[in-house]
Amino acid sequence: MARKGIILAGGSGTRLYPVTTGVSKQLLPIYDKPMIYYPLSVLMLSGIREIAVITTPTDQDQFKRTLGDGSQWGLSLTYIEQPSPDGLAQAYLLARDFLNGAPSAMVLGDNIFFGHGLPSVLAVADAKTDGGTVFGYRVTDPERYGVVDFEQDGSVRAIVEKPEIAPSQYAVTGLYYLDGTAPDRAAAVAPSPRGELEITSLLESYLADGALTVERMGRGYAWLDTGTHESLLDAGNFVRTLTQRQGLQVGSPDEIAFELGWIGEAELSARADLFGKSGYGRYLASLLKG
Ligand code: DAU
Repeated sequence: MARKGIILAGGSGTRLYPVTTGVSKQLLPIYDKPMIYYPLSVLMLSGIREIAVITTPTDQDQFKRTLGDGSQWGLSLTYIEQPSPDGLAQAYLLARDFLNGAPSAMVLGDNIFFGHGLPSVLAVADAKTDGGTVFGYRVTDPERYGVVDFEQDGSVRAIVEKPEIAPSQYAVTGLYYLDGTAPDRAAAVAPSPRGELEITSLLESYLADGALTVERMGRGYAWLDTGTHESLLDAGNFVRTLTQRQGLQVGSPDEIAFELGWIGEAELSARADLFGKSGYGRYLASLLKG
C-alpha cells in the first residue's frame, strides 16, 4: 500500500504574529515562499502524492486558497479540521479514514529540512513498511524538543518530551514515518499531564515493540525551527543565502513536481506566469529552458 502524507498545520502559533495578523503561522513567508511549501516539498521528495493537510477549522480556507486541490503539482490534497490543538498524536485519529490502513509520513507544518542527499535518507525510511522511523538531529537546546535517550550501545532507550535535563543532544525532528498501525496505537495513548496526546507517547508504543528506528541526521543537514521571531528570520536568511549564492531553489514544490514528471511543461509554464516577474517566477521559467 502506497505511503500517504500528513502535514500537521494546526495549533495556535501564538508566539508569532498570527493572533494580530489573522494569517496562519504556517503560511507566513520563509524568504520567498509560504512556510508550508517546505514541509510539503519534503513529502514530495519522498514520492508521496496523496496528502492530508490538518488545520484549525478557522484556518482551513486560507490553506485551501494557498494550496488548492494540489493538482497544480500532480498531488491530491485532502483537508481535515483539528478543532483544538490536543496533541500531535491526535493527527493519526483525525486522519484514520484518510489513511485507510496505509503507512504514512507526517511532517509538522513549521519544520524545514535541507540537505544534499535528503531524498536518499527519506527513501530508507520509506522502504521500511513495518514499524516507525524518526530522525534525531543534534541541537544545542534539546530541552525544547522530544529528546532521544540512547543506551550505551547506541540503541534507543526512550524518547522524552521536553525534559528538564536532556539525556542527549539529539532532538527528534517533526518528521515521522509510521506504519499502518499508527491510528490504533494513537487511540491507546492517554493524555499527558498538559492534556495533550503526545507524539512521544505514540513513539514509545513503537519502541516498546522494538519497532522504532531513530536515524541520525548528520551535520550535512539543516533542520530549522520557525517557532520564534528570531528563528523565523534566521530560516528566511538561510534560504535567501542558499538561493542567492547557488541560484537554485530550496523547497519548491513546482520544481520537484516538474523534476519528478508529475507535471509537464504546460503546467510549469502556467505556474511561472502566475508568479510573474518575481525571482521565483523567473526561476520556474528558467527550468523550462533547461
Ligand atoms: O519540532 C519538533 C518537535 O515538535 C518535537 O521534537 C517534539 O517531540 C514535538 O512534541 C513537537 O514539539 P513542539 O514544542 O514544537 O510542539 P508544538 O506544540 O509547538 O507543535 C508543533 C507544531 O504542530 C506547531 O506548528 C503547531 C502544530 N500543532 C501542535 C499541536 C499540539 C498542531 O497542529 N496541532 C496540535 O495539536
